[in-house]
Amino acid sequence: MEFKEEMSRKVAYVDTVISEYMPQEESFQKTVIDAMKYTISAGGKRIRPVLMQAVYEYFGGTECICEPFIAAIEMIHTYSLIHDDLPALDNDDYRRGRKTAHVVYGEAMAILAGDALLNYAYETASKAFDLIPESLWIEEERVSDEDKFKMLKIELETRKNVEHAMNLLAKLPGIYGMIGGQVADVELTGTRLSDEQLTYIYENKTGALIEASMLIGAILAGATDADVKNIQDVAYDIGMAFQIQDDILDETATFEELGKPIHSDEKNDKVTYVTIHGIEESKEEVKRLSNEAITILDSMNGDSTFLKLLVQYLIHRTN
Ligand code: IPE
Ligand code: IPE
Ligand code: MG
Ligand code: MG
Ligand code: MG
Repeated sequence: MEFKEEMSRKVAYVDTVISEYMPQEESFQKTVIDAMKYTISAGGKRIRPVLMQAVYEYFGGTECICEPFIAAIEMIHTYSLIHDDLPALDNDDYRRGRKTAHVVYGEAMAILAGDALLNYAYETASKAFDLIPESLWIEEERVSDEDKFKMLKIELETRKNVEHAMNLLAKLPGIYGMIGGQVADVELTGTRLSDEQLTYIYENKTGALIEASMLIGAILAGATDADVKNIQDVAYDIGMAFQIQDDILDETATFEELGKPIHSDEKNDKVTYVTIHGIEESKEEVKRLSNEAITILDSMNGDSTFLKLLVQYLIHRTN
């Protein structure tokens, strides 16, 4: 498999899905819709929606039921970036190669654009309920009882999976997930972090959305409980590695590569994995976590070629 081509194909697919689900109509709220679109359409690696789609596909998912969630997860991620960049948080002026939303639209409108993206994510994800195949033929005599039973079972199982996915999409970005991590990140700024505190921050501010992406893909495809557990472990490793790599790049990459300011952590007096362990040890930890993810994928039954290449790509990413 040519990873680059497959990745570009997947990014193009999720981009189409995201733009299809973004709000179209506008009236007096036009400015906030412009600010939402400004940040979401600026690019970004689309790691979370790609992971969701790839895991969905890995477990044999082929229907479009995943699409509202693909759009929703990127809306939530984009809201988290707009708010993370605000003067009250990291106070960064660039994101995805563009001036941040609060620089262009003002702080009030950036706060509202973040709120709006979060809200619209749930409005969007709930559209998956309309995509559940309905057993309308239940009255039809020409359909055998056995077929009716089979189709009813599919309808009920799909509904249960969508409900479960909605629950994860509500929970993991929240106080027991991403927000919890951001709260600790903000509150513990400048202090000497214990291993436990650092791990909590990374698991939540970054890990939780990656976990949500991968779990939702697995659940919508009807993965077994054992497989869901494995995917959760893979997601944990990817999430931790992803944030450590983000911290490494904050010190080693250029502004042109990142599209966001370098040395933002130092400016904000953030203690990170890199400030505690140094660059070399951090790189080793990214590799160790990634290899652990690959080992779990290898122990599973499906064809995880793309997922494993994606993990490799994330170790060596420069943006
Ligand atoms: C940035 O996420 C925030 C972190 C959790 C480190 P990404 O690095 O995925 O940002 P985009 O979406 O590519 O801009
Ligand atoms: C961001 O962590 C986590 C979230 C946005 C939830 P960072 O503050 O390190 O992310 P960047 O470096 O600004 O992208
Ligand atoms: Mg931050
Ligand atoms: Mg930041
Ligand atoms: Mg960072």
